[in-house]
Formats: sequence, structure tokens, C-alpha cells
Amino acid sequence: MGMDSRAQLVSMAKHSFVHAKAGTIDQEPEVLKVPARHYYEESRWRAEMDRVFKRMPLMLATSAELKNPGDYKSLEAVGVPVLISRGQDGDVRAFVNMCRHRGAVIQPAGRGNTKRFICPYHAWNYDGDGALVAVFKEKEFGHVDKSCNGLIRLPVAERAGLIWVHLDPHAALDIDTFLCGYDKVLAHFDFQDWHFFADRRIDGPNWKIAYDGYMDLYHLPILHKNTFGPNMPSQALYTAWGPHQRVSSPDPRFAALEDMPESEWTDEMLMQGVWTIFPHISIASFDGGGRGVMISQLFPGDTPQSSFTVQNYLMEKRPDDATAEAAKAQFALLEYVVKEEDYATGLRQQRALMTGAMSHILFGRNEGGGHRFHGWVDRLIQTDDDQLERLFAQSERYGV
Ligand code: FES
Ligand SMILES: [Fe+2]
Repeated sequence: MGMDSRAQLVSMAKHSFVHAKAGTIDQEPEVLKVPARHYYEESRWRAEMDRVFKRMPLMLATSAELKNPGDYKSLEAVGVPVLISRGQDGDVRAFVNMCRHRGAVIQPAGRGNTKRFICPYHAWNYDGDGALVAVFKEKEFGHVDKSCNGLIRLPVAERAGLIWVHLDPHAALDIDTFLCGYDKVLAHFDFQDWHFFADRRIDGPNWKIAYDGYMDLYHLPILHKNTFGPNMPSQALYTAWGPHQRVSSPDPRFAALEDMPESEWTDEMLMQGVWTIFPHISIASFDGGGRGVMISQLFPGDTPQSSFTVQNYLMEKRPDDATAEAAKAQFALLEYVVKEEDYATGLRQQRALMTGAMSHILFGRNEGGGHRFHGWVDRLIQTDDDQLERLFAQSERYGV
């Protein structure tokens, strides 16, 4: 029998404190080598797009962006135009954002609220359920069976105030199987009640160079010494639910909890650190202007050496004028850190690796997040469709 999600959080806090007291971390058995070409080779990158991004559900939106019936979000992910909407029944649906007439993209990228999606090309109309409801000059056009010309549905699931979408309409992997129970732990954020504050886009290097950095605490006191300061912890603890990993540091603050009954330990305290969602999300907590998180969504670009990241800032409470200023300052700092420190470094690293002068890069015994992440990407590339479900069902997960 597995532990429930609250018990998992408490057990992680205790584990963290034991390490903090002893001055130790969990270590992988060996230093890992990853071929340098995995960061720039076209065939490798293509396999990652086809076998990872097109077969795994991706967290493409937060419930906070789509609170009301009729709310929608349009975006392009890995070349696929996606439309996500909340129906009048309250359920979230996802579609390929493409008109059944001749394939025009219907709703421009962005968010809004509407009862009808109207194609800008010849004004065919679709309702919030994606059903085709009106054909312009239908008599002149000729007969179209409306019942089978609705927008093409994409598999979707809303869990823990986050929305996952498969980019392939025929993707078979069940979203709950993929989540490995991780959503139950993420649910302790209560994101469905949070406020969407702001977002922006930052260009970066190969998606894995960028993503490696989100699982890496080893660099914090070095690369970010001028922004976060030299006292950031470099030690990391990794906890896995299938391919999804929580990254935290051995935290001496948990010592203060020792004298307090466990039932009084708050979710806010227990949810500190970075929560990654495979293959391309990071959720990190901050407190400028009140409790907030930055949810980073990394999207591969059009080439192996490019990606872009959407930074979303969510706040537990809708800010007033004063707290909004502080939140803005917090979010601005995070733009600077990621753009000028992480990705500026990553873009130079990309160019250096592409010389081919080095056959492999290294992940230390202290960098378990990278070990597990690259292991999963490799395994997914090697796993055929009919074995995918089993791979996730049998994978390691916390407390089981
Ligand atoms: S392509 Fe949409 S109405 Fe013609
Ligand atoms: Fe960083």
C-alpha cells in the first residue's frame, strides 16, 4: 500500500532534515556520461520530438488561465496549433486550432472568452465544444455534414489546477498513468484557486540544455552569486514519481518543525523547492508580493539548437497595488536571472558543444536529477507504443 500524498510530503521533509543535520545528500552510484551530440544532432532531436513530445501529454495551461465557462487559450506547441477551452459545462477541452474547411488557424495565440470560434478565412463558426455550427453561404457552398466536421479533439486532463494535453489526437498513453500519482502531490498547492499574474517568453538553447538547469542546484551559488547571492544551497535531493521529479535541498528549517505536531506542518512549508513535470515544466516557489510560483514551460524551437520558455507567474492571492509592485519586481528579477545568467550561459554552451570537440558531458553523483531525466528520454526513444503504458505503470514512485 502506498503512502497518501500528505504522508509523502511529511516523509520528504523528514528526509530533508536528516540530511541537513548530517550534512549529507543522496548520491548516484557513478558519474554519468551523456553524449554531447544529444544536444545538437538532428536525428536525435527528431526522435525526441516524435517519441517524447508527440507521445507524452504536455502541461500546456493552468486552470487559473481558464477559470470561467467560455475562457480559452490558444498557443502553438512543438509546431501544433492548440486551442484549449472551458465549456459551458465547466469541463476543459482541447482541439487542434485548425479549420475543417481548408485548415486555417482559427484563434490567434492568446487568451479570451467567447461562445464562438470564427475562422478568419471564410467565417466558419465553431462553438465551445468544437462543433461546427455555421458555414458561410452554406447554400452556395454545398452540403457539409456538420456532425462530423467539428474541430479535431486532443486528449486532455485537468488535475491539481493544471491542464495536460496530448499533441497527437491518437495518442494512446493514459494521462493518469503518465502522471504516476504526482498530481496528487501537486494538488497540495491548490492551484485551481490561484491568480494568474503575468507571463512572458524567453529564447534559449537546445531544450535539454535549458531543462538541465532547472534540476541543477549545483550551479546556484556560483552562476547566480550576483543575483540570488552566494548563500544559495548547492546540494539537492531528488524525489521521483516516474519521470517527474521534485528538487529540494537539505533544509535545516525543518528542524523547527520537530517540536510541532505533524498535523500542523503547513502545505506551504512542505511544498518548497522545485517541482518538475516531465518533459518540460518547472514550478518554483517565491514570495515577493506574497506567495507565488513561477511555472516555466520549455518548448523546443524549430531546430535542435533553439527553444523558448514561457514564464508564468501565479499568485496564491490576487495582489493589491502594493503587493502587485513587489510581485512585478520578483518576476522581473526572474527574467533577468534566466535570460542573462542561465540562458546566456546555455547559448554559449550550445555553441561550444556543437564544435564536436568533446564526445560527452558529465552529471555528477550529486546531480541525480540529470541522471533520471536523461535516462527517461533515452528509454522513451527506445520504447515502442505498445510498451509505453507498461513503462509508466512499472516505474518507480515515491512512497510505494
Ligand atoms: S479555412 Fe476556415 S472558413 Fe475557410
Ligand atoms: Fe539557474
